[in-house]
Amino acid sequence: MRGFFPLTSRFVTHCLACGRLIMSFLVKARSRAFSFRRLNGHPSMTQHNTALITGASSGIGRELAIHFANGGNDVVLVARSEDKLRELATEIESQSGRSATVITSDLSRIESVDQLCNELTQRSITINTLVNNAGFGALGKFSELSADRQTDMVMVNVVALTRLTRQLLPSMLQQNRGGILNVGSIAAYQAGPNMAVYYATKAYVLSFTEALREELSGTKLHVTCLEPGPTETGFGEDSGMGKLDIFSSTAMTAKAVAFAGYEGYLNNEDVVIPGWKNRLMVTSAGFLPRFATRKLVGKMQSA
Ligand SMILES: NC(=O)c1ccc[n+]([C@@H]2O[C@H](COP(=O)([O-])OP(=O)(O)OC[C@H]3O[C@@H](n4cnc5c(N)ncnc54)[C@H](OP(=O)(O)O)[C@@H]3O)[C@@H](O)[C@H]2O)c1
Repeated sequence: MRGFFPLTSRFVTHCLACGRLIMSFLVKARSRAFSFRRLNGHPSMTQHNTALITGASSGIGRELAIHFANGGNDVVLVARSEDKLRELATEIESQSGRSATVITSDLSRIESVDQLCNELTQRSITINTLVNNAGFGALGKFSELSADRQTDMVMVNVVALTRLTRQLLPSMLQQNRGGILNVGSIAAYQAGPNMAVYYATKAYVLSFTEALREELSGTKLHVTCLEPGPTETGFGEDSGMGKLDIFSSTAMTAKAVAFAGYEGYLNNEDVVIPGWKNRLMVTSAGFLPRFATRKLVGKMQSA
């Protein structure tokens, strides 16, 4: 009898995971079918809209910025690398005809988000869509990785994302249009030994986005979490993940990941996991006990 309730609860959890997967396929199929109509019916095609993209200087953020500009949005490009942002702004303005504003910001600094928002106010820019994409990871044991790097990771991946959302949300609510696209990771679905802080930050992003979506369900705002798996960007080399076989052998292109995220956001999907291999990985993890998934991840990520 003592084992009955845990077993029942795992059974229920598995049924819920199955149901969720089936629902996600059904929703995806429905979204695809109506995609063309939704894309054309989205406010961005008829009203003046501006999307702010953090981490737009490279990788997934760069591609997302191009999608939002091509979809009819002016864009505000945020990151630390000014040269790369200016190059992208020129490319966007010449190819899409939309305006692209560059604001350099180091989001690991506590004051950066408020400075960024002040700059938006000074330039009279109203943001309709916020894409919280800036982020980084670091492979290694928690006790051996630099304390500063891991604290900066929490600042960029969690604190800046949260504060920027809080600062920009009121005007979105006032206009009752636009929304938030947060970039998480499939790392959100289990603990990640040898990359403990990164996995924990991404679990936060998923939980926060889902809760926010529910709170905003009575509005017209879209709230979506993009959960990429391994992707060919600067992230692999910067984090140390790129040297792992499991990373390089399954990596998708940044273009494909960004397109899935952009389309998912327009269709107001709750969670977008690009690529069937990543979806399979997340679903399989749901069937295993947490002690098993963390052991597996720890083994895969032992350098
Ligand atoms: N690539 C993957 O395999 C993968 C998988 C799952 C999730 N993701 C997530 O996808 C998002 C984008 O990463 P990516 O793969 O495109 O990697 P990336 O090419 O390295 O891009 C990271 C972006 O974040 C910006 N950034 C980093 N630290 C920053 C800081 N302190 N202040 C402001 N901006 C900062 C970088 O700009 P500057 O250096 O110019 O500041 C850059 O534009 C991240 O949230 C990442 O966790 C990536």
